[in-house]
Amino acid sequence: MLRKAFLMLCAAGALSANSARAQYTIAADKVKAQISPNMYGIFFEDINLAADGGVYAELVKNRSFEFNMPLMGWDEQKKDGGDGRVEVINRAADRPENAHFIKVYIDSAGGSFGLSNEGFRGMGIKEGEEYSFSVMAKQEGEQNVKLNIELHDDKNAIIGKAELTPTDKEWNRYSVKFKATATVQKAQLYVWMSGKGIIDMDMVSLFPEHTWKNRPGGLRADLVQKLADMKPGFLRFPGGCIVEGRELNTRYQWKKTIGAVDQRTNIINRWNTEFSHRPTPDYYQTFGLGFMEYFMTAEDIGASPLPILNCGMACEFNTGELVPMDKLDPYIQDALDLIEFANGDVNTKWGKLRTDLGHPAPFHLKMLGVGNEQWGPQYIERWKAFTKAIKGKYPDVKIVSAVGPFPGGKEFDLLNKTFRALGADILDEHYYASPKWFLEHAKRYDNYDRKGPKIFAGEYAAQNVVTGSPKNKNTWECALAEAAFMTGLERNADVVRMASYAPLFAHVEGWQWTPDLIWFDNLNSYGSPNYYVQQLFSLNKGTDVVPLLLNNEAVAGQDGCFATASLDKNTNGLVIKFINSTASAKSTSFKITGSKGYQKQASVITLRSNDKDAVNSLETPTAISPKNSTVNVSGNTLKLDVEPYTFKIVRLKNK
Ligand code: AHR
Repeated sequence: MLRKAFLMLCAAGALSANSARAQYTIAADKVKAQISPNMYGIFFEDINLAADGGVYAELVKNRSFEFNMPLMGWDEQKKDGGDGRVEVINRAADRPENAHFIKVYIDSAGGSFGLSNEGFRGMGIKEGEEYSFSVMAKQEGEQNVKLNIELHDDKNAIIGKAELTPTDKEWNRYSVKFKATATVQKAQLYVWMSGKGIIDMDMVSLFPEHTWKNRPGGLRADLVQKLADMKPGFLRFPGGCIVEGRELNTRYQWKKTIGAVDQRTNIINRWNTEFSHRPTPDYYQTFGLGFMEYFMTAEDIGASPLPILNCGMACEFNTGELVPMDKLDPYIQDALDLIEFANGDVNTKWGKLRTDLGHPAPFHLKMLGVGNEQWGPQYIERWKAFTKAIKGKYPDVKIVSAVGPFPGGKEFDLLNKTFRALGADILDEHYYASPKWFLEHAKRYDNYDRKGPKIFAGEYAAQNVVTGSPKNKNTWECALAEAAFMTGLERNADVVRMASYAPLFAHVEGWQWTPDLIWFDNLNSYGSPNYYVQQLFSLNKGTDVVPLLLNNEAVAGQDGCFATASLDKNTNGLVIKFINSTASAKSTSFKITGSKGYQKQASVITLRSNDKDAVNSLETPTAISPKNSTVNVSGNTLKLDVEPYTFKIVRLKNK
């Protein structure tokens, strides 16, 4: 009796849940917009030790003694009665791009004198993996000096070693490989010198043999793999404010970042001193990750390259220095030469250089950013000069133009109005704001001019405390709000052609800016919940937006829900993205018209947490990560129950 009553109650409950289902409609035959194949991409910025100490796999810090304190990162060592001294030599007159090297005097015939290098917050070393030590060296006098290379763990035990004898009196590069016998998060490199004599050294380097695509002197494989796993449509590089520099002297100059690594001029990374609450005195740019590496990485991961160049303006949050208009030509020439470098054939000057650097095939550059977060009439003036020259020579290259650092306000309004009037190709909008802002602005593009410039949502990330605060975290609340906002980008895919979260990478001990998409230490890395949001949008973007409505309106916040639908012509199906940003579960029903019906089972991907403050970490890297399941489809109707704080993707297959 009791059981019968219970069953009746359950049935009644199901009925009322059914009738309470929100009724959504999808018109699968009414394509509203085509989604750009480049829609979701990556914004790489050299910040947070993203390049040196991060994706650039060099383990030695200050390998060429070019830091302001030329021995920063290095310590003198002595053992078994060995003795010696180190001089820092400045040869700027001969080698301005690599002014310093060290001259080491080994004073005692017995014992060893040496230098240790601390790496970038230590060196991540893996048991059984091979490492390649190399050095530029020359000996004076009797050429007696031998090198003993050792890796030490944090208790000073030796976990790898090799010997090397530089033999020449002229500069030469020497290298040796050895295997590590232990996995260590914070190892140190020791270079012991024995035998009385004098040796000059520069470019003291240690790389893992296993890098991305096993390129010598290459990139950290685990980090690039995370980018590849996003199947990004584009790769924007190298920033960010890094493009502008604090002052023009320290702007990014791509021509100084290609060719032999010992000829790439190091500079102080602007994030070294930017934040008084996050000083990073050892943050330099060796440009081991330079423009050739950026282009090749983009090519490797199937992303369209999107370089951003300095437009004659230093960061306006810092010095705001300007190049006078009559001295702007070299900056413009850099842009023209970059296009030739990327696309020109071997008969062109810069195409030949690319060929000589090992890449005869073009990089298919189609877009170029002129300036990062510039604003004011001074930008418009410089932008006009760049645009005239670029369009004059390369009319098909699309120019990405800044509209200031904020998504509104007087700087934005001036540039937005001016660039629209001037027929700009693509406007680069940035928004770092609260999760609430993201939820409230999912309709931002619904009324944008369909005939005006396309939009690149070039930098965005929800900030759970306040922009720039070191307390910001990559919480699930932020990621979910971004997902909600992204339904608005996708719904307006005819206007919004590209989008990228920012910044991309952060070393857990070396960051300046938080939140960030991917976090790493010296050995491991993890994607934040925001990473999985980006990845899911990218992998499930579909090809054509179709209307998904509730009571004839786009789903952009009603009852805390956000949704979008797209056909996927590549897989012959329909993709529904649904976000429930609230603490209560939602029962939904989707009635799909304009299709011949769907296979009975649809796949579901769920990203969620009950805890809005939940984060991923090195210890729990996939606490919030996609889970797969299925749901039944009945005819042209899909019923879907969506848990609190949930992002769901349903993929239906056409019959
Ligand atoms: O991503 C951090 C910074 O935010 C970028 O350098 C800049 O473009 C923006 O202000």
